[in-house]
Amino acid sequence: MIGSKVYSLDIVDSTNEFARALIGTAPEGTVVLARQQTCGKGRFGKTWYSPEEGLWMSVILRPRNMSLITIATGVAVCDALVRCGVFPSIKWPNDILLNGKKIGGILTEIVDSTVIVGIGLNLNMQSFPVELSEIASSVYLETKKVLKKKTVYDDVCTQLDYYYAMLEQNRIQELLKKWRYYAAVLGQEVIIEMGDKQMTGTALDINENGALIVNLADGRTEHVIGGTCRLMKRDMGYGM
Ligand code: BTN
Repeated sequence: MIGSKVYSLDIVDSTNEFARALIGTAPEGTVVLARQQTCGKGRFGKTWYSPEEGLWMSVILRPRNMSLITIATGVAVCDALVRCGVFPSIKWPNDILLNGKKIGGILTEIVDSTVIVGIGLNLNMQSFPVELSEIASSVYLETKKVLKKKTVYDDVCTQLDYYYAMLEQNRIQELLKKWRYYAAVLGQEVIIEMGDKQMTGTALDINENGALIVNLADGRTEHVIGGTCRLMKRDMGYGM
């Protein structure tokens, strides 16, 4: 179902924005794919560097359970990379890491009862603009493997189909188990940022709403939704 209708574009501002304009008419599972984005969007209004060496796509979904869409997508993306011989991890909630460096991200936007899931993967970039070179990486830079975009795209669609069905069938524990397998943060000391609020503690797990369960330094337990998380050992904040 995912990718049964595809808008394959050359250059677009943002695949998420293009998808937004289709919401009224597009069937569920419609994909917007672009070779390049001129104004790719990251979380919190950041821009997302999107040259032709990466995979930039958005999927239109109408899920029963919106809270776990980013979690399901993260697992699907990781599975797709594993199929290509690359072994990533997930930094809650939406970062895809390789060797601890950010190589991808997911931007989930809710418009009424529709969700636009934007997926960005830095595949074959050999370098980044200087302001990003400290924080961004690509599959190529981390592994020296050149991946075929079409292969990764097909695998992402296949795996997202699989985990989306799991979500729709309410097989939440199965999904969370898979997510834990890829999780980079569990058992780690983390800094959580929610707006201007900051907390430190140990990331314990995620719950059935996708919230990160953190044991705070003062002994309280917090269920965090909607913030960002940095690993204390290594700050991989990604200001793209
Ligand atoms: C993040 O980590 O901040 C999320 C980045 C998401 C980027 C992707 S690229 C395809 C889709 N279109 C966009 O404009 N953004 C997402």
